[in-house]
Amino acid sequence: MGRVWAVVFAFGIAAIPASAQGPVSADEWAHSTLAKLTLDEKISLVHGIMAIPLGPKVTVPPEAILGAGYIPGIPRLGIPALKETDASLGVAYVMGLRHDGATALPSGLASAASWDPQAAYQAGAMIGQEAWRKGFNVLLAGGANLAREPRNGRNFEYLGEDPLLTGTMAGEAIRGIQDQHVISTAKHFALNDQETGRHVLNVTIDDAAARESDLLAFELAIERGRPGAVMCSYNRVNGPYACDSEPLLNGVLKSDWHYPGWVMSDWGAVPSVAAALHGLDQESGEQLDTEVFFGNSLRQLAQTDATYRARLDDMVLRILRAMRTVGVTDHSGQPAAIDYDADGAVAQHVAEEGIVVLTNPRNVLPLSGKARRIAIIGGHSDIGVISGGGSSQVAPPGGPAATIPLGGLSQIDAFLHTSMYLPSSPVAAIRAHSAQAQLSYSSGEYPSEAASLARQSDLVIVFVTKWMGEGVDTPDLTLPAGQDDLIRAVTAANPNTVVVLETGGAVLMPWLEQAGAVVEAWYPGARGGQAIARVLFGDVDASGRLPMTFPAATSQLPNPVLPGANLEAEQAFDMTYPEGSNVGYRWYAARGSKPLFPFGYGLSYTQFAFGPLAVNSGPNGLTATVAVTNTGAREGVAIPQVYLTSAPEGARERLVGWRRLVLKPGETKTMSAPIELKLLADWQKSEHGWRMAGGTYAFSLGESADRLGPSVTVNLGGKRLPP
Ligand code: BGC
Repeated sequence: MGRVWAVVFAFGIAAIPASAQGPVSADEWAHSTLAKLTLDEKISLVHGIMAIPLGPKVTVPPEAILGAGYIPGIPRLGIPALKETDASLGVAYVMGLRHDGATALPSGLASAASWDPQAAYQAGAMIGQEAWRKGFNVLLAGGANLAREPRNGRNFEYLGEDPLLTGTMAGEAIRGIQDQHVISTAKHFALNDQETGRHVLNVTIDDAAARESDLLAFELAIERGRPGAVMCSYNRVNGPYACDSEPLLNGVLKSDWHYPGWVMSDWGAVPSVAAALHGLDQESGEQLDTEVFFGNSLRQLAQTDATYRARLDDMVLRILRAMRTVGVTDHSGQPAAIDYDADGAVAQHVAEEGIVVLTNPRNVLPLSGKARRIAIIGGHSDIGVISGGGSSQVAPPGGPAATIPLGGLSQIDAFLHTSMYLPSSPVAAIRAHSAQAQLSYSSGEYPSEAASLARQSDLVIVFVTKWMGEGVDTPDLTLPAGQDDLIRAVTAANPNTVVVLETGGAVLMPWLEQAGAVVEAWYPGARGGQAIARVLFGDVDASGRLPMTFPAATSQLPNPVLPGANLEAEQAFDMTYPEGSNVGYRWYAARGSKPLFPFGYGLSYTQFAFGPLAVNSGPNGLTATVAVTNTGAREGVAIPQVYLTSAPEGARERLVGWRRLVLKPGETKTMSAPIELKLLADWQKSEHGWRMAGGTYAFSLGESADRLGPSVTVNLGGKRLPP
């Protein structure tokens, strides 16, 4: 945890000068307001409904807004209601109940692929402002789980496999949201890294493995973004449920990291009232729990048991302090008009920065605009772009281009398993770029038909999609519905074929060698079609870099078979992570195995020359510097990455810094990136802290995690760092 915040907390937020906080600090206000609350009022602040008519006993009060959650306010003391909505990608659709629509950001992986913290901030600010203008004051955003398991159905909501990249991007998104006076969460705390068995699986992991991976991502995100709330997850961690975990909540989060905000449960994740004693501060979506634990049960305990009474006060204090700090007490969201054009431009910018060109061996890309006959095939690219499913689903203001039910017997399952297309047609955007060409479209349903169209064309662009969603993992990494066969047929018919992937994460590419070029466009959001066309035609550089490894085969994964996949639904199981803290590229580096595409990888349309890497130790810590020159003929984006490659204890690979540099032809810029010492340290359980061994540390510059330059070494003294 950053020293500044720890100091602020240690001395109370009241220590912040009045000029920065107004005449009364958030902490003072929270304490004095707490003193005026009755027991019933306190109880009313620590539990709430899912704000939709779901469940027999639920009435949604008229002042609530249809959304994920509602906690009534206390007007006599100026405490507004908490009006909560999902989620990280925009104001959500709420099981199809909201019809006003909102701007859909590209998936979290797309935004992480930009490696652009500023874009993450702007995206957060945009969705925070939309939430505010729809009357919400809490966004259940800030997904910071690691893409440890590439089959995880929710990876598209998260920010990849690396703690530094995830923590940085999540922290910036949270900052952007909260600067609009909308509280953001960081979620789902913690180790909620797959959907299969998410309510029942027990993650067994040792302290060092957790601290150096998933927890580190949260630690960095929280330090940077200071979210008002942290949402605990459904799964168990080393025994207790995460929302009932003394070690995780009271221990790691509140004691070690000095987290001053509140912990809200995931919806239906509270196992008992005793969770309050273990650090849970608020029960959310209470109709999904087996009973409302933080209602009457907690009230009775608070009347008779001093420990519960004190805890209830702390729970309320934390909620009030966060509300005041973020400013929802003074600037609660107000219904107001939204400029969807301007917001769409923000989403498009993120998509353009995050699209990754994976192969381009014959320089088919960028498209010259000279092809006379262009075939566009598949992916429903005539109507729009696919998006991911679940609570994070955003529907566009004018309604979706299409929704395709994928099966589900209950209302919730049917909603969770629906693939929605956002109305930003790649075909229309490509047409706008190639007015002189003759465009033909084939749905790609029949590969033979698509192949015959490909044969008659100068250029083929084939779109393939893979839907992923909350509550369900993908059984493997293939493209569904015969799309591999479609690509095989089309690329065999015409090698001048660009394959555009719209996927929720990594996929296998058995046809890779046949393709003219391959582009990963992720779920590209509200203006995805335009963004794809602009990258294909080179209006902007191809500048995305993978935030997760693309495996060559599932046999390379730490768990070749998805844990829990063969069990009955809701049958409990233990989940051990063979890779420990070696998530993603670190696993491949430790085993010396080659993935299909490594973490950090992506092609630009120009070329760069890199000067020697220098890592210097100064009074303010370690800094990595390198000069980068654009040696090509067009403007482009370099993303030099710095990796630790060995420490005194031996070889290890960890991303420790990067910069996104926009360079004109011939231009040179020097990147300078500070290196956080915690990234060099190992967690020592016996010392309950981080330790850096004294000795030689080696660093390399990389264009990806497996293309590393020569190493430079620095000798550092041994050091202990607090938890
Ligand atoms: C999801 C959360 C979401 C919540 C409210 C849960 O099922 O795991 O991410 O914020 O529902 O919709």
